[in-house]
Amino acid sequence: MFENYYADTINSKVLYEEATTIIPYGVSSNYRFFDPYPLYLKRGKGSKVWDVDGNEYIDFNLGFGVLEVGHSNEIVAEEVYNAFKESSILGFEYCKAIELAKIIKKRYNVDMVRFSSTGTEATMHSIRIARAYSRKKKIIKFEGHYHGSHDQLLVNVNPTKEGIVPSSLGIPEEVIKNTLIAEWNNLESFEKIIRENKDIGAVIMEPIAMNMGLIPTKLDFLKGVVELSRENNIVVIFDETKTGGKYNSGAAGYFNLEPDIKVIGKSIAGGLPLSVIAGKKEIMSVIGPGKVAHGGTFNANPLSVRAAIVTLEKILTENAFYHMHRLSEILESGYKDIAEDSKIELSVTRWGPSGSIYFLDKVPMSYKEFIKADFGKWGTYFFAMLSQGVIPMAGFNEQWTISIKHSEEDIRKHLECADNAIKLAKNKRTEVNLDESF
Ligand SMILES: Cc1ncc(COP(=O)(O)O)c(C=O)c1O
Repeated sequence: MFENYYADTINSKVLYEEATTIIPYGVSSNYRFFDPYPLYLKRGKGSKVWDVDGNEYIDFNLGFGVLEVGHSNEIVAEEVYNAFKESSILGFEYCKAIELAKIIKKRYNVDMVRFSSTGTEATMHSIRIARAYSRKKKIIKFEGHYHGSHDQLLVNVNPTKEGIVPSSLGIPEEVIKNTLIAEWNNLESFEKIIRENKDIGAVIMEPIAMNMGLIPTKLDFLKGVVELSRENNIVVIFDETKTGGKYNSGAAGYFNLEPDIKVIGKSIAGGLPLSVIAGKKEIMSVIGPGKVAHGGTFNANPLSVRAAIVTLEKILTENAFYHMHRLSEILESGYKDIAEDSKIELSVTRWGPSGSIYFLDKVPMSYKEFIKADFGKWGTYFFAMLSQGVIPMAGFNEQWTISIKHSEEDIRKHLECADNAIKLAKNKRTEVNLDESF
């Protein structure tokens, strides 16, 4: 199955071989690596990217969900260029951070806001804030949920055995002994943990699980988690790193639920690094000198702040969401038709501009169901899509994202290629690496 990939991407292979001599696995983030070697890209514009061999791809990965504005968006580019002429970093608070904070407060219905640069930093800080506020040590996370690359939450992200499993070497047991794992969409499992443990200060979750494809959330379950947490003085953190930019007011707004802290990242700054920790005043007020540490040289730098202001005010408007959601719906129904016609076990899910497919008879609702999918078939589908010029998603646990720059023609091409790829996958498996190490 790799024959086409080898033939089409010779320069990526050459670069990979050189890169591995100086960059472990040739990539700057483990998630960019895949067997037999990763793609090396040169540039992107709108809905397309080009690799070092000159291949053009319609991109549905969009920087792991960052680029709802599309690659190299003209409005963002101009704003960032103008901002840079005035300074990229000032070393004091940038005056326009307040404007952005007000926009976030209104859009996401929060009292106070602090900025970081990445989702990892923001979830790490959110845990510290929640512990300081609740004065309790333990945190609950859900199996299969990913909250970034820091030790305390890099646990049971993609486990292959029972128990509490660090998802990386180098995480000592002592560091994760206060992390408890519940099963997603299973209120009993959450309740049991609360019953059996004292000292639980916070629960963190992706309100729509987007690191296992895209698992739908049972609303009763989510409501139950929030209610039980309230009853037990547990701070509720919605990690909306991915979901925050996919609906106007994120998943919390969509579900009409109010967590105590929201973490928002990825797409809100039009492709620049910016993340948000936002929440209720009494909780956010624990941050400050001599209280809870929150720092970062690049936090709220002028480039990211200006990019976020134009992204939220001028680009990710109601009309933009309408466009992205509509195209995503067409893609979803196209996949459902393909599944039916090809008589293959294939399930499809979608939420807003994102969706995913599973080579499984039904949509999984938990990590345990998710790992039953046939990832060998997914591997064949993935490489067949690449060889036809479509990046359908970044990996077997990821999802498609539609940008404002995608067109109906992009969707039509995606579905035409998917039809071929899925037919091929019916009888052919291409093993992908399911390593639990992130
Ligand atoms: C839900 C969620 N939280 C946190 C992160 C980490 O964000 P970052 O890669 O910006 O550190 C990710 C990244 O994919 C994510 O999906």
